[in-house]
Amino acid sequence: MSVPPAKRLIVGNWKMNLGEDEARALVRALATTLPFDRTDAGVAPAFPCLRAALDAARGTPLTVGAQNVHADDRGAFTGEVSAAMLAGMGVRFVIVGHSERRTLFGETDALIARKVAAARRHGLVPILCVGETEAEREAEITDEVVARQIHVAVDTHTATAVEQLVVAYEPVWAIGTGRTPSPRDVTAAHRAIRAALHARIGTVAAGIRILYGGSATPANAPALLHAPEVGGALVGGASLDAATFAAVARLAG
Ligand code: PGA
Repeated sequence: MSVPPAKRLIVGNWKMNLGEDEARALVRALATTLPFDRTDAGVAPAFPCLRAALDAARGTPLTVGAQNVHADDRGAFTGEVSAAMLAGMGVRFVIVGHSERRTLFGETDALIARKVAAARRHGLVPILCVGETEAEREAEITDEVVARQIHVAVDTHTATAVEQLVVAYEPVWAIGTGRTPSPRDVTAAHRAIRAALHARIGTVAAGIRILYGGSATPANAPALLHAPEVGGALVGGASLDAATFAAVARLAG
């Protein structure tokens, strides 16, 4: 159990920002500014912008993912999008279990487990988000919280090969707040996540990339993204500008 793969992965979570034209322009700018020789990189636009982003990213190393997916393949689920639909478009990964989905949209660990399984059924890489609230950190139960989230969502079927799962450690209190944990706390949480992965899926856990997420910027990237066990970053606000996101990627590489 230990070192993540050498090449880090930087993913931009655009959330409910950027229209189609802006998405196309940002992907084009990223395709020429990101340091693909040193980092893997992806962006997750909103559903209506996926087609534009995919077209703009074609022929470049930038991968395009979605921010959410439904757990079922089809059916009467008004407003929802299935993994089959996403895979059919050429989408490569999907963010699952983001804390905004958990807290604002009531997603439970059990539902998130079903979404991870849906992504896997259709060859999408799930980026499974885990992390503690401020109250849980103060109660010193961060390790138990992330372990529970991993235990429910990951099973042997999920990660038959290491490239089929990415985990993002996102302390809920650090998302969009400008506050971050210390590099030491990040490493401790990543170790707890890797131990939980190991308990579920054995030695394959050693190769799974665990990203840090929560107010990642060029200013804190050198310390946070080079902390032991950190395999890259899930970046929100700082991913909406090409130069800023590329700076995070360069500092991570
Ligand atoms: P932030 O968001 O970088 O704006 O804090 C990160 C995330 O929610 O993935």
